[in-house]
Amino acid sequence: MTTEEMQKKIEEVFAERFGGEGNIYASAGRINLIGEHTDYNGGFVFPGAIDKVIMADIRPNGLEKVRVFSIDIDEYAEFGLREEDAPSQSWARYIFGICREIQKRGGTVKGFDAVFAGNVPLGAGLSSSAALESCFAFALNDLFNGNSIDKFELAKIGQSTEHNYCGVNCGIMDQFASVFGRKGNLMRLDCRSMEYEYFPFNPEDYRLVLVDSRVKHELKDSPYNKRRESCERVAKRLGLDTLRDATMEDLDAIKSDITAEDYFRARFVIGEKERVLAVCDALNAGDYETVGKKMYETHEGLSKDYEVSCEELDFLNDVAKEMGVTGSRIMGGGFGGCTINLLPNDLHDKFVAEVTERFDKKYGHKPQIYDVVISDGARLVKEAPKA
Ligand code: GLA
Repeated sequence: MTTEEMQKKIEEVFAERFGGEGNIYASAGRINLIGEHTDYNGGFVFPGAIDKVIMADIRPNGLEKVRVFSIDIDEYAEFGLREEDAPSQSWARYIFGICREIQKRGGTVKGFDAVFAGNVPLGAGLSSSAALESCFAFALNDLFNGNSIDKFELAKIGQSTEHNYCGVNCGIMDQFASVFGRKGNLMRLDCRSMEYEYFPFNPEDYRLVLVDSRVKHELKDSPYNKRRESCERVAKRLGLDTLRDATMEDLDAIKSDITAEDYFRARFVIGEKERVLAVCDALNAGDYETVGKKMYETHEGLSKDYEVSCEELDFLNDVAKEMGVTGSRIMGGGFGGCTINLLPNDLHDKFVAEVTERFDKKYGHKPQIYDVVISDGARLVKEAPKA
């Protein structure tokens, strides 16, 4: 569904269910050029918002409850605004979490009606959940708080929602990208100081393509949280707050005191910090070959040391390499989802055709291809006419 079609559909369903119309808000999914699993280690990330969004039509209802309908899941949920009112549906917990996290910070949330939908593919590593969180955080800030909550706090409200209501101890990257995204720009964020910089990204001869394996390996025991715990153990052993300040020499010096698994996890993170900085320099110099080389190194590290890849993603990476794609790597948290590929414009069609065919032959389904369009983050799309 295009974003325009989606907006029309949301307006129709809102009118049917609740009558009239509310304000329409949207927030975006994200890509990340490089800097994976570095955010919760105080390192650097390099994301940008994309042209795929979660969009919601929202209007205060004068009640003490939220009434919300998800078009994509075709489900309705109704819940109050106290901690004990948490809904059971997992999708509704994101919205409930946003309400609660705003209230916990002293902000105001009153009852509202909402209808929402999205075209951020689920499970592809494009952060549909951050888009949902940011869309509602932005909207409730506008509707009930006169936009007095600053943008960083909105991102943190989304992150705390993941921690406290969804069981994922994520970093700040996804929510940051979804809130701060700007058309045509990637952003380098230092996740320790929270300083950030916009990087215009529109290389003349190259482009970014996502290849979505459409596999999502549901793994038990929250492997994401386990990666984070490994990193925290090593940092603690080194007497540091985060791995941001660790060097390979520091890590090697304690190698015999930590498990092999923790050692490899930390080795990836320390290497990744250096790679993000190298990519910034290379981008400034217009040196896309180096950018690509670093992307391949990241894939290797995510696959071998961090162990968040899978057979399908390693296969996509191998095909990219064989075909002369400039850079390719698994993107996002891992365990399925997509690869991000940097390639010369003139290789695009050939790569897309061949990778689709070869993947289909091996795994029995075609991957989904997305050309990356770097777009704006959270925003008010349309204001309801004044009554
Ligand atoms: C997920 C998390 C992010 C980040 C990435 C890996 O998307 O939500 O905070 O850690 O994984 O880079």
